[in-house]
Amino acid sequence: MTAMLATGPVEGSPRDLRSIAALVHAHAGIVLPDAKSTLVFSRLSGPFRRSGLPRFADYVARLETDEAARREAIEALTTNHTGLFREAHHFDHVAADLRPALMAKLRAGGRVRLWSAGSSSGEEVHSLAVTVLGGDPAEGRLIAGSDIALLATDINTKVLAVGEAGTYAAAGIDAIPAPLRIWTEAQGDELRFRAEVRRLIRFRQLNLLAAWPIRTGFDAIFCRNTMIYFDEPTKARLIARLCDQLLPGGYLYIGHSERVTGPATAMLEPIGQTIYRKRPA
Ligand SMILES: C[S@@+](CC[C@H](N)C(=O)[O-])C[C@H]1O[C@@H](n2cnc3c(N)ncnc32)[C@H](O)[C@@H]1O
Repeated sequence: MTAMLATGPVEGSPRDLRSIAALVHAHAGIVLPDAKSTLVFSRLSGPFRRSGLPRFADYVARLETDEAARREAIEALTTNHTGLFREAHHFDHVAADLRPALMAKLRAGGRVRLWSAGSSSGEEVHSLAVTVLGGDPAEGRLIAGSDIALLATDINTKVLAVGEAGTYAAAGIDAIPAPLRIWTEAQGDELRFRAEVRRLIRFRQLNLLAAWPIRTGFDAIFCRNTMIYFDEPTKARLIARLCDQLLPGGYLYIGHSERVTGPATAMLEPIGQTIYRKRPA
């Protein structure tokens, strides 16, 4: 019985939950309704036990002042579900519409910048990279050798480390269109994206609510299934900031249950299922 208590989920009070929810909302934009109390307490059980503090309320109080502890708690409370070629219609659009435009731009000596904002463990940005490289190895290498870079950002450093490794469960191969599998290799019993692909991608920790030390001018931004956890004003502000980062004519891809709201609506023309194009200035 004692062993079960030492490893089982912690039981916090409604007051603890309210404090945690306020903190996570203020720092990461994530809304944690009362209905998520079991999830919150179970995800914070590990960090609480590692803190060595006697009572959960003490741990919650520490989160107010201890930045490292707060960061660990916020990471534990993020939901990182993702997958290779998730919401595949976006990659169909990239292959059919965006890729030809990017290739023309690169051929003319221009630069291409793509951003996966809320990248989680990198499946999205790797899917995007291989879609842009395409199924012809010679053409893909030419593209990879041009001025092209992909940025992948997330608040959670643990998932970013997975993305940097570029190694995923072997079963993920089924989600990758057959011609694009040339950009992967077997690594033990896992699949790994080849070095040519990995070297195009930079993974960086970035809180979408904070300042973005990013040079503006993206051809496309994927921000999918991340603002779903934010409240309406936060979503509207985020979309406006993403829109500012897009080049005129650039594309914004959002998650299946998300929509564009707020002042950026006028600037973003819907051109497909959860795909928007920034109008020329
Ligand atoms: C459900 S995943 C989505 C992954 C991928 N975009 C997809 O659609 O498959 C949401 C990601 O958003 C990240 N996230 C949540 N709040 C964030 C914030 N304030 N700033 C940056 N990333 C955040 C989480 O850590 C998580 O990895």
